[in-house]
Amino acid sequence: MFRAILLNQKEGKTEASVQTLTADRLPAGDVTVAIDYSTLNYKDGMAITGLRPVVRTWPMVPGIDFAGTVEQSADPRYPVGSKVVLTGWGVGESYWGGLSQKAAVNGNFLVRLPEGLSTRDAMAVGTGGFTAMLCVLALERNGVTPDSGEILVTGANGGVGSFATFLLAKRGYTVAASTGRPTEADRLRALGASEIIDRKTLSEPGKPLHGERWAGAVDSLGSHTLANVCASTKYGGTVAACGLAQGMDFPSTVAPYILRGVTLAGVDSVHCPLSARIEVWRQLSATLGGSELLTAVKEISLEQAIPVAKELLEGKVLGRVVVNVNK
Ligand SMILES: NC(=O)c1ccc[n+]([C@@H]2O[C@H](COP(=O)([O-])OP(=O)(O)OC[C@H]3O[C@@H](n4cnc5c(N)ncnc54)[C@H](OP(=O)(O)O)[C@@H]3O)[C@@H](O)[C@H]2O)c1
Repeated sequence: MFRAILLNQKEGKTEASVQTLTADRLPAGDVTVAIDYSTLNYKDGMAITGLRPVVRTWPMVPGIDFAGTVEQSADPRYPVGSKVVLTGWGVGESYWGGLSQKAAVNGNFLVRLPEGLSTRDAMAVGTGGFTAMLCVLALERNGVTPDSGEILVTGANGGVGSFATFLLAKRGYTVAASTGRPTEADRLRALGASEIIDRKTLSEPGKPLHGERWAGAVDSLGSHTLANVCASTKYGGTVAACGLAQGMDFPSTVAPYILRGVTLAGVDSVHCPLSARIEVWRQLSATLGGSELLTAVKEISLEQAIPVAKELLEGKVLGRVVVNVNK
């Protein structure tokens, strides 16, 4: 038997409840994992509330990431007892996910937990922190260095934004953090931001080009914010775009790209290849091991995850939330 959040559809509406299931309900998979922790991401909020159609088959166990211990395995890379982490690959959307005490998955979806990170640490990072590191590496791959100038992080009090702010500051960058929650400015400064920017200055329709300001940016909002960020990026700079918390639209012009050589680097955490994942987790472990960002997360139970998912979409959750599935 194991407990899990189960999503069902009734008359076009999503219903979420915690249920106790027998082991034979687990879908086929070559590795079975006893999950310690999952987390709540924006996408989990959309799945649990039914706000956007991210769930592909019903019933569904949500949770796009988890960390735990291998319990049964037909994959020699992950013997019984290995500590593993999973993010993305459509888990929690097309395949049963991590808001559960057990998961059966394709071994190709897993990464061995690096030395220095516990399963709780891995979910304090979660898909948000993993994506933030992908964004940082995208900037650096395109030649952005701490000497290039200021880096802007939008949605800075969110999961991706908090980690991006922290990781960039740790790597020596000067970080400007944009937020709609100025009351949390001290938190952002503690993460390493040198300057706090009111998100309203970026979120309204703007001009094709603004004054050149940012050497690079990590954007998790999309819409007018991303357009304005690109329009104010310096010659040759790079903007890593990973999210749509403001909107899926992108009302930009070609001006920043053809007149200033700005690079818009798309970042996807769901299908990125295993080699990139191993490198991202290695770098996260090296940068974050023992950091307060990992210990100061909010820990909740499976039952609490259902109401907290709604609060997350309402922008009321600060930083990362880990779900202790055995609480
Ligand atoms: N590409 C990928 O692989 C990938 C991976 C992870 C996440 N994402 C996407 O990245 C985005 C952020 O994810 P997350 O987990 O960090 O979510 P989150 O924790 O909910 O953070 C989102 C942040 O965006 C800001 N925000 C929310 N609604 C807004 C609005 N209407 N207008 C302007 N700002 C708004 C808020 O920041 P402030 O309070 O600071 O204003 C909020 O904390 C989501 O769209 C998610 O789907 C993509």
